[in-house]
Amino acid sequence: MAAKIRVLIVDDIAETRENVRKLLQFESDIEVVGTARTGREGIQLSQEVNPDVVLMDINMPDVDGITATETIRAQSPHIQVVILSVQSDQNYMRRAMLAGARDFLTKPPMGDELISAIKRAGEMAHVEREKGAKQQMIMSASAGPGGFGGYQQAARGKVILVYSPKGGTGCTTVAVNLAIALNNEDTRSVLIDGNLQFGDIAIFVNEQGKNTIVDIAPRVDDLDGDILDDILIKHEASGIRILAAPQRPEMAEKVSPDQFVKVLEFMQKIYSYIVVDTSSILTEVILSAIDMSDVVVLITTQEIPSIKNSRLILDLLTTMGIGKERVIFAMNRYDRRFAITPERVGENLKHEIAVAIPLDEKTAINAVNRGVPFMLDNKSQPIGKGIFSLAETVRARLISLENEGEGSAVKR
Ligand SMILES: Nc1ncnc2c1ncn2[C@@H]1O[C@H](COP(=O)(O)OP(=O)(O)O)[C@@H](O)[C@H]1O
Ligand SMILES: [Mg+2]
Repeated sequence: MAAKIRVLIVDDIAETRENVRKLLQFESDIEVVGTARTGREGIQLSQEVNPDVVLMDINMPDVDGITATETIRAQSPHIQVVILSVQSDQNYMRRAMLAGARDFLTKPPMGDELISAIKRAGEMAHVEREKGAKQQMIMSASAGPGGFGGYQQAARGKVILVYSPKGGTGCTTVAVNLAIALNNEDTRSVLIDGNLQFGDIAIFVNEQGKNTIVDIAPRVDDLDGDILDDILIKHEASGIRILAAPQRPEMAEKVSPDQFVKVLEFMQKIYSYIVVDTSSILTEVILSAIDMSDVVVLITTQEIPSIKNSRLILDLLTTMGIGKERVIFAMNRYDRRFAITPERVGENLKHEIAVAIPLDEKTAINAVNRGVPFMLDNKSQPIGKGIFSLAETVRARLISLENEGEGSAVKR
């Protein structure tokens, strides 16, 4: 026997609540599990009783039915809302649908009309619930034993690629510490070594995984949480996960651009932030990764060769169709004793330098040599504050890109 459809009635008028309840009482597969008198109560009760279907009035004291619908759908996407309203006008209907309502009936509803609307919505709720449960299973499997427990990634994770057109400018230093700064309990980061020939991320964190990206590449089409869990390095001190580069330079060619991109895409299902370190040599793998990145953090220093190369890269990115808003230009090893300031470089290249991370050789070099990223034990130093500020810039940029995306999306 199929599970009953659990219904919550939200209406400020007692008589309406009673009438609706009466209409439903002889339906063997529908059960009224609660009634609420205001939008706010409706939101609260829908959390508590977890209904399949909410019958929602529009005009109510405190929170109105449209807003309540929006909130309930955001909190529990499987719950389906059927709006019941005296207003039959198109505008209301449109607003209700935009808020995420599944159906719209005018009051007072006919018995069979109401019942068939509830049954349709109930079926949808069961399907959505199952989908949600499956998703949850995949997610917790990915987290695996000793992993992230029930951690679930709701939205698609963001790919943040760190690139410097000149070696030795601190690309890896920034990638490692940025991944740590972005990582927290709700938004997990994974750090991926895209420098396939001479990747040194594992050294930066003093870890030696036996597995690397070479072990994942041939399996990209049937990746699952367990495989991933086996191969990623768990960096206990910071909580981030790491996908190391191949152990030997000649193994780099075992990873195709297509495979690399698929790995990133899989990671997006599980992690909030996928931080990719790169080599200054633009390989096909790196170009493909740039193409799918949400933002590129471009690193320069105050040195002319580095600035010159940054100009070339900014041009290349434009040619590749990577808009300016997707590029966060940062200066590393910034030393105020030199006349070339971030402002001047930004003006010169017509791309503002968003963050300057100060030169601090003692902290930076000590960190690498000990294999302890400075964001773990020296984050209050100016260099650490620089990384924090970069992380904030990245977060803010991702949000504004997301909002922009929504704004330009075709309106329903
Ligand atoms: N802000 C900084 N101040 C001082 N030294 C730095 C800074 N950032 C990085 N370094 C040092 O520069 C060297 C090169 O850094 P690395 O991250 O390996 O660069 P890349 O990946 O661009 O080749 C390392 O010794 C690192 O400790
Ligand atoms: Mg490097």
